This record gives sequence, C-alpha cells and structure tokens, in this order.
Amino acid sequence: MRVECFVTGGTGFIGQHLLANLSAQGHTIRVLMRRPERLAELRGQVDSLGGNASRIFAVAGDLEQDNLGLSRADREALKRAKVVFHLGAHFAWGLSVEHSRAVNVEGAKRVAQLAAEQKSRLVMIGGYMLKDHRHLQRIGIDPGSPGSTDWPAVYRKVGGYEGSKLEAHFATLEVMSAQRGEMTIVHPSTVCGHSRTGHIPDGQPLVDLIRNLVQGKLSAVPGTPDHWLPLVTVDYLVELMVACAFDPTMAGQELLALDDQTPNLRKLLAQVAQPLGFKSPKHHIPLRLLKWLLGIAPIARFLNTKPEALDFIQTTRFDTTPVEQFAKRHGIAKPDIRQAVQNTARFVNAYYLARSKER
Ligand SMILES: NC(=O)c1ccc[n+]([C@@H]2O[C@H](COP(=O)([O-])OP(=O)(O)OC[C@H]3O[C@@H](n4cnc5c(N)ncnc54)[C@H](OP(=O)(O)O)[C@@H]3O)[C@@H](O)[C@H]2O)c1
Repeated sequence: MRVECFVTGGTGFIGQHLLANLSAQGHTIRVLMRRPERLAELRGQVDSLGGNASRIFAVAGDLEQDNLGLSRADREALKRAKVVFHLGAHFAWGLSVEHSRAVNVEGAKRVAQLAAEQKSRLVMIGGYMLKDHRHLQRIGIDPGSPGSTDWPAVYRKVGGYEGSKLEAHFATLEVMSAQRGEMTIVHPSTVCGHSRTGHIPDGQPLVDLIRNLVQGKLSAVPGTPDHWLPLVTVDYLVELMVACAFDPTMAGQELLALDDQTPNLRKLLAQVAQPLGFKSPKHHIPLRLLKWLLGIAPIARFLNTKPEALDFIQTTRFDTTPVEQFAKRHGIAKPDIRQAVQNTARFVNAYYLARSKER
C-alpha cells in the first residue's frame, strides 16, 4: 500500500532518515519546510540515505505561524495525507521559554489540529523522559492530571527545550482527545547514528559527547557507575515509527524507543574511544558538582556543555518489553548498539573532527 504522508522536521536528523525509509517504500511525502528553496539539497540527502528523492515534495510553512503558514493550495494537497509525522522542533539547549513554547508547544498543537481536522493518523515524536514517571513527579508533573501543572516552574527546573517537549506532549493529547483524532506517540531516547554507516549530523547531543571526549574535555565520567545515557539508533527508531503509522492497533498508544543494551556511561565512552585510539576516563565526577561547574559560563564554554544536557544522563531503567514485542511482531531487527556507537564515533571523527583538524 502506497500512501501520501506529511512530515514536519523532515530536514532534521531523524526526519531525513524517515523520508528515506518512507520514500524507499514508495510513499509520497510532503515536507513542511521553512526554506523550500532547499528541496534539491534535501532530495540529494534522501537519495544518499537510500531513499527515492523523486517522491519528496516541499510545502512552504513554519510551525510558528498560524495554520503553519500554509498556502491554500498546499492545505488542500495535504488533505490527501493518510499519516502526519510530527518531528519538527527547535532542539537545542539554552532556549528561552517564549521561543521554545512558540515552536515546540504551539507548533505541535497546530500540527495536531491539522491532522485531526483532516482525519490523518498523527505520529508524533515525544521523548523518553515522558516515560519516567518518577522524574515527571519530581519536576512537578502529575501525568494523571497534567492540567494542574505549574509550567513556568517546570521550565525553570528543566529548561526551555525539555519543558516545551513535556508541555507539547500533554497539549497535543488534549487537542487530539477533544477532536477525537488518532495519534501514536513514539518516545525516543537520545538518538545514535545509523547502525551501519554511523551517519549523524553535527549538533546532535551524541556528537557533542564524542567531540568532548576526543578533545580531552571529558576527563571524568559524569555520574556514577549506575548512570547511563540511553540510546536508540536512528534506523531502528525510524522503522518503529513507520510500523506504528500503519498499524491500526497503535492508535491511541505510546511506544518507548530505547535500547536497554546501551551500556553505562563509562563503558559507552570506552566504546567511543576504542576505534578512535583514545583513552576514555575511568574516574567519576558527581553530576551535581558538574552541573554546578557548568553554571559558571566560562567553564561551560570550555567544556562545551550546557547543564541541560546532563538531565539525560540518569539511573532510571525502563521496561522495554513492549517495544521489543512490537518490533518482533513487525519483523524489525534491533541493531547491535555497541557496533552502532562505534560506527557513529568513526563517522563523527571522519566528518567533523578529522576535517576540522585539517583546516
Ligand atoms: N535527536 C535526539 O536525540 C532526540 C531524542 C528524543 C526526541 N527527539 C525529538 O525528535 C524530533 C526530531 O529531532 P532531530 O534530532 O531530528 O532534530 P533536528 O535535527 O534538530 O531537526 C529539527 C527539525 O525541526 C525543524 N524546525 C525547527 N523549527 C521549525 C519551525 N519553526 N518550523 C518548521 N520546522 C522547524 C527543522 O527545520 P529547519 O531545517 O528549517 O531548521 C528540522 O527539520 C524533535 O521533536 C526532538 O525533540 C530527538
């Protein structure tokens, strides 16, 4: 079955891999683009990731604008979309509350409204922190009654990006429930490069971690031996998202996309360091101390890390039985995370580190 899809965030890391996967299967995809003049570049990237660029079309628009800034003609064309994938977000640390809400919360509500109005299935990307209920309660969110959340207080605790992702989740659920829309939410952990090629764009959190290790800025492992940075490879994530979109039993469901074979942070750093011939740190630095140090701007600049990045390093373990059962049911094989981490380290070194040394 070949269908039409609408994708926001299609120019981003996960989005490009999603476009490659969907187009390779023969689906037609319209992509919300703030800069539609970059369609040729996006098509080239989709082809290089194994997709079929001729099935990708641009739709000019912006999550921050009313009605997503869509022209009447594009709004009409989008009505044919069977599935709307919402990945678009401003993904960065240190965002203001105002800006992160405008893009990530209001943008998500606009996309949900559009999907519900035209009866498309909405597949939305959340984040794995939404499946950590103890964490949510700690920062003042009761998932059973999100309406009572003091959002300004949440933003003060977790920053603009994470706060807006959490708020967007509950706001979107509300829109979809009021409009009786069909939605599936996929919650990825930190995304690792492609399991075979290691492809990952610069600016992703894992790239920053690898860069810091190679540049000697990570002389101690943040946290304790129990701390880990849960990962999921981009190819496995995208396969799960696509399977969710076309599985009727996933309407109204949420899926945690996280590889519980991700080692603890110390071992992860060792796996990154090994193919690059670097030494990895053995000693630990308490997260609280590191966070405090990162509150001092010159140190944060030198260490090339923002305190918000540390929130994703934690000790919580998650039940991954549902995602494993789901993957099995759809014949999706989970890649070896160790190999994927090493391929990502090689990719980052070849494309972002070795080249910057040459300059
Ligand atoms: N990567 C991870 O580790 C991770 C983990 C958990 C959840 N997520 C979530 O997964 C989604 C995709 O992440 P990613 O890593 O692929 O992010 P990314 O590479 O930073 O891509 C972000 C995408 O959002 C688009 N965008 C940003 N602001 C926009 C606006 N105002 N209007 C329209 N589009 C806008 C960008 O378009 P432009 O090309 O115009 O900038 C880009 O396509 C996000 O919702 C993120 O929160 C990511």
